[in-house]
Amino acid sequence: MKINLKIERFNPESGLEPEFREYTVEVEPTDRLLDALVLIKQYQDGTLGFRKSCAHGVCGSDAMRINGKDGLACKTLIQDVAKTEGETIEIRPLKHMPVRRDLIVDQDAFFKHYRTIQPFLINNEPPPEKERLQTPGDRAAFDDATNCILCASCFSACPILDDNPGFLGPAALAQAYRFIADSRDQGFEERLPDLDHPNGVWACKNHFECTKSCPRQIKVTKRINQTKQRIKTYRKSRGEPLNDGGV
Ligand code: SF4
Ligand code: FES
Repeated sequence: MKINLKIERFNPESGLEPEFREYTVEVEPTDRLLDALVLIKQYQDGTLGFRKSCAHGVCGSDAMRINGKDGLACKTLIQDVAKTEGETIEIRPLKHMPVRRDLIVDQDAFFKHYRTIQPFLINNEPPPEKERLQTPGDRAAFDDATNCILCASCFSACPILDDNPGFLGPAALAQAYRFIADSRDQGFEERLPDLDHPNGVWACKNHFECTKSCPRQIKVTKRINQTKQRIKTYRKSRGEPLNDGGV
C-alpha cells in the first residue's frame, strides 16, 4: 500500500521556521513506521534527521509524536496509524525539548530531571558477601518500573510540562518510585527534598497521559501516586507539613 508521511522538518541553524514536508512510500500494513522513515532516508531524502538504534523497542531512541500521540516508531505498525491506501500519517518531534534537527530533540532537560532523583540503589550498609537478597513479593512491588527505556514519550505527553518546565516529569518520578519501593534501598530521605516539592510529585495532577503513552506499559501515574502516599505517611508520622506549595 502507498501511504503519505507528513513530517515536521526543522533546522535551527537555517533561520527558517519549522515546516511540514510530505513523502509517499510503498509499505506493507505490517511494516513498522520506522521502516517507512528508513525508506525515505535511504531513497528520497538523506537530509531527514531521526534517531534509531535497536529497532525493537529496547533502546528508547526513536520516540516521536505520531498522529498527535507520543510513541516509538519501531513499535508502531503502519496498520495501527494508517488503515487505507493513500492515508497520511503526521510525524513531529517530541514536545518539551528543543529540536536539534527534524525529529531529533535535545534530551538534556529530560536526563537532568532523571538524575535529580538519584536513579541508583542507595544503601550505606556494608555489602554482603554475595547479593542483597529480596523476596519475589518485594520485587513485584516495583517490577514494571524497572522496564523504563528512557524514551521520553511520557515527558512529551505530560500536559503539566506545557506550563511548568521545572516539573521533574513522569519518567523521573516513576524511577524514584522504582528505588524507594525497593526493599534494598535506603535513600528515601535523601530523595525526599526533590520529591516532596511543588515541582516534584505534587505537580502531577493525574492526567494519565504518561501512562497512556508509555511503550513499556509502566503504571507511571500509579507509581507517582504511591510515592505521594509514602511521603504523606512519612510527614504525618513526624508531624511535619508537606512541601506541596499549597496545591
Ligand atoms: S516511563 Fe515509559 S514513556 Fe516514560 S521514559 Fe520510561 S519507558 Fe518511556
Ligand atoms: S529504535 Fe530502539 S526503541 Fe525504537
